[in-house]
Amino acid sequence: MATTTDIFTGTRPCLEVRDLDMIYGDRVVQRDLNFVVQHGDVFVIMGPSGSGKSTLLRHMIGLVPPARGDVFYGDAGFWTVDDARRQQILRGVGVLYQEGALWSSMTLAENVALPVEEFTNLPATRIRDVARLKLALVGLAGFEDFYPSQISGGMRKRAGLARAIALDPEILFFDEPSSGLDPISSQRLDELIVDLRDSLGATVVMVTHDLASIFAIGTNAVFLDDEAKTITAAGNPTKLLHECRDPKVQRFLTRGGMKGS
Ligand SMILES: Nc1ncnc2c1ncn2[C@@H]1O[C@H](COP(=O)(O)OP(=O)(O)OP(=O)(O)O)[C@@H](O)[C@H]1O
Ligand SMILES: [Mg+2]
Repeated sequence: MATTTDIFTGTRPCLEVRDLDMIYGDRVVQRDLNFVVQHGDVFVIMGPSGSGKSTLLRHMIGLVPPARGDVFYGDAGFWTVDDARRQQILRGVGVLYQEGALWSSMTLAENVALPVEEFTNLPATRIRDVARLKLALVGLAGFEDFYPSQISGGMRKRAGLARAIALDPEILFFDEPSSGLDPISSQRLDELIVDLRDSLGATVVMVTHDLASIFAIGTNAVFLDDEAKTITAAGNPTKLLHECRDPKVQRFLTRGGMKGS
């Protein structure tokens, strides 16, 4: 089994976003973002379409450097530490992208094996075992040799999840995990996310519009306002529903129809 280096030391929060500005060219998307994600949280990034949720996720997982500020993994500022430390941090991170992003020319087992091949020296047979185990954990035992086009959308999401947990991550990031899924599949995915968080002892950061998910599994949240261009509400989603007076947050949390993106 691939083991993860413990990227956290001491009693610092799991993640901390500090003084982050997100800018494309001369267009400010968000400014002065500050928040903390605690170990074990299912932390939800909420906000209207275009408010910068996916961009924030990209800054947090090291894909794009922010215009200003940093993202702390424990004591380590991701964008200021050296490359070796950055690689070590990334080794402890699993990501499920919005579209599942599986390689269509590879089987599910090959897709899940990819990060294990990249980050470990395990022999091929052990890698195959890891892939099989991870697929079984997400309910896809027996589908190892299927191609992404041969399975349903919900199964593709779960295969993406199997790949995200291939290296036993300490933090799992999701961008709209339930978009495109029916409510039952979406609920199953939520349950799976919580089960995996518990069995891996991981922390989850999730961008989602899905109110059912937000209230069912979100422990903490921030709301990115597209006009104020900063966080206008933060806290437990149910508490925000009852206590937050901001009309946009209220509208977001009480809307009838659900908009996927
Ligand atoms: N690579 C890019 N270059 C320039 N502008 C970008 C880029 N990516 C996103 N943007 C802009 O930044 C803003 C935020 O985009 P982002 O995708 O982060 O929003 P979002 O909150 O995830 O939206 P959605 O809910 O629709 O997924 C948008 O106005 C978008 O047009
Ligand atoms: Mg997005």
